[in-house]
Amino acid sequence: MGDEDPFGAYLRLGHELRAHMEAILPPGWSWPGQRVLDFGCGTGKVLCHFADEANEAEFWGCDIDRPSIEWVQRNMCPPFRAFECREGASLPQPDGYFDLIFAWSVYTHITDRWAEWLLEHHRVLADDGLLLASFIGEGMVEHLTSEEWCEDRIGMNILNEGNPWDCGGPTVIHSPWWLRAHWGRAFEILDLWPSVSPPRRPTADDAPTPTHGMILLRRKPVRLTVRDLTRLEPDEPREISSLQHSVRQLRHQAAELRRQNAHLGGQLQAAHTDLTQRIGEIAELTQQVRMAEQNLRTAEEDLGRYRASLEAIQGSTSWRVTAPARAAKQHVKRLRT
Ligand SMILES: C[S@@+](CC[C@H](N)C(=O)[O-])C[C@H]1O[C@@H](n2cnc3c(N)ncnc32)[C@H](O)[C@@H]1O
Repeated sequence: MGDEDPFGAYLRLGHELRAHMEAILPPGWSWPGQRVLDFGCGTGKVLCHFADEANEAEFWGCDIDRPSIEWVQRNMCPPFRAFECREGASLPQPDGYFDLIFAWSVYTHITDRWAEWLLEHHRVLADDGLLLASFIGEGMVEHLTSEEWCEDRIGMNILNEGNPWDCGGPTVIHSPWWLRAHWGRAFEILDLWPSVSPPRRPTADDAPTPTHGMILLRRKPVRLTVRDLTRLEPDEPREISSLQHSVRQLRHQAAELRRQNAHLGGQLQAAHTDLTQRIGEIAELTQQVRMAEQNLRTAEEDLGRYRASLEAIQGSTSWRVTAPARAAKQHVKRLRT
């Protein structure tokens, strides 16, 4: 959210995203009476800007991240409604429930289960219901991969597979042709913007900005399976060229991870050697301390014995009988000096 003013960034970005959303929704769209789902709502950054509308419409949020959803439930419900969902594509609502589902920066992270989720969204959308999703495309690819944008090389390319969610999760990059081909089987593509800043329809003069793209889709009355959505588009050579590039990207990432692994392995080895040396030093010091303790114990035992002998001498009859002679001797010594 930005280090300087995270709360300010939370409000500003959410406000901007609402503006982007309203810029792409069909003319005449209005909120009252609609049932809307913010899929992958996180901490409600976008949702919170619909507080007024939520009195006249149903605004739901869901996310797999329990702390985020608990926060939304504590702080924003009502008027909003929020529930936790799982990575498996299943929502609790009946068929045809929602009029609009929006997913900001969520399909940009869903790797293996994208087709299941798309079909689940298709199921819970009303006839003619809308799905609005952001995607990582032309605007951000250079920023993310240091590669120039090239549609031949991008279909649905996955990077950073297995990256923990705290570090941003995996990244999915989409090309418009691929979205049209695959998502277009279940949805009519109403609009597609390669990047979304400023919040208005891009013109031919607009250079892509380093932002997500947006795709607006309308549910088609079809019944499809995961296989239907994932099969390669016939007569589309970019399916193969993008898969080839995806393999190159993954090989590059694997090599990079191996390099980092080797580097970390070297550091680990050095730390191990250092630790072994320190353990040796500590063992030596421990041995010295033990010997010093033993010497101290011996000295204390000797001292005890000397004290006992002294007390025995001082208590003896001969010591007491010779006491005046010793005192006289001391006296003479003092006189002489
Ligand atoms: C980059 S964040 C975007 C959050 C929010 N949409 C926003 O714009 O602030 C991605 C969100 O998607 C959520 N997410 C990822 N996979 C999901 C899934 N299968 N179902 C629901 N939420 C998911 C993550 O937990 C995270 O909150």
